[in-house]
Amino acid sequence: MDSPHSREARLPAGILDRLQSLATERLGLEHRPGKELLLSVRATRHMRELGVTAPAEYLRLIETDTTGERMQGLLDLLTTNHTAFWREPDHFEWLRGQLSSHAKSGGRQTIWCAASSSGEEPYTLAMVAREAIGPAAPERIQILATDVSRRMLAAAQTGIYSNERVRPLPDAWRTHYFEPGKERWNGYSRVKEEIRRMVHFRWLNLMDPFPQMGPFPYIFCRNVMIYFSQETRMQIVQKLLQRLTADGHLLVGHAEGLSGLEADTDYVRPAVYRHRAGAGVKGGKRWV
Ligand SMILES: C[S@@+](CC[C@H](N)C(=O)[O-])C[C@H]1O[C@@H](n2cnc3c(N)ncnc32)[C@H](O)[C@@H]1O
Repeated sequence: MDSPHSREARLPAGILDRLQSLATERLGLEHRPGKELLLSVRATRHMRELGVTAPAEYLRLIETDTTGERMQGLLDLLTTNHTAFWREPDHFEWLRGQLSSHAKSGGRQTIWCAASSSGEEPYTLAMVAREAIGPAAPERIQILATDVSRRMLAAAQTGIYSNERVRPLPDAWRTHYFEPGKERWNGYSRVKEEIRRMVHFRWLNLMDPFPQMGPFPYIFCRNVMIYFSQETRMQIVQKLLQRLTADGHLLVGHAEGLSGLEADTDYVRPAVYRHRAGAGVKGGKRWV
């Protein structure tokens, strides 16, 4: 039975259908029965933020918005941003081994973290690179961190996290790579400048054509395609593969079964695939 709160939050079916279509078109979000209430609650919150009470007026504001700001506000509210430092750690252990061998050969590399949320994943990548390569890491490895949520990108750029969030990292890393907050920032830590300057945050929607960039030796695109339909996943995987170097690696979330990947990749280990086709993108403009 509905709670009074959920009855209050529920938007008319026609409005919900249209919002659902927008979520699918703009974010790739697959429509899953039973998620209507969540969509209603989030859209109602957005209506309050915009100071609108009539659902039809709200929809009109979103659809006629030429600045893109209201649509962005909706996207910010519709995305699920759960993330953590050191999440699915075997990927980081594996990358550390890869980068350690690269350390001897020299050269610069950019790693793309394609759904970076509030920054825990790309900062973990930068710390892994620092551990593998040593003090030369900032000159040698850059992390391009992208997300569709401007709210998350803004939070990520501060590099500030509660001590609770930093806890999954190895003890020595917390000491080496964070500075403890003082006074009103007591209980928080900030990623040190040495690590922050390795990470470059940019807005990018995986549903759009990708800008000219790369090719990248590693692309981390973890725990985002799980929300997409199979068809959308396959399209995005193909676009990601085009941004990999000849023998580059694509890493996805462990829970993301990506059928369609087999065609152009070799399975390396759980949720790690090596690009076989080697098309890459020649002459891509550097973003970082
Ligand atoms: C669940 S978080 C995963 C974060 C991180 N990759 C991890 O594994 O911990 C999913 C992220 O994907 C982003 N996202 C959702 N749809 C997207 C899209 N169409 N394009 C780019 N990013 C998207 C969300 O804003 C969110 O920050």
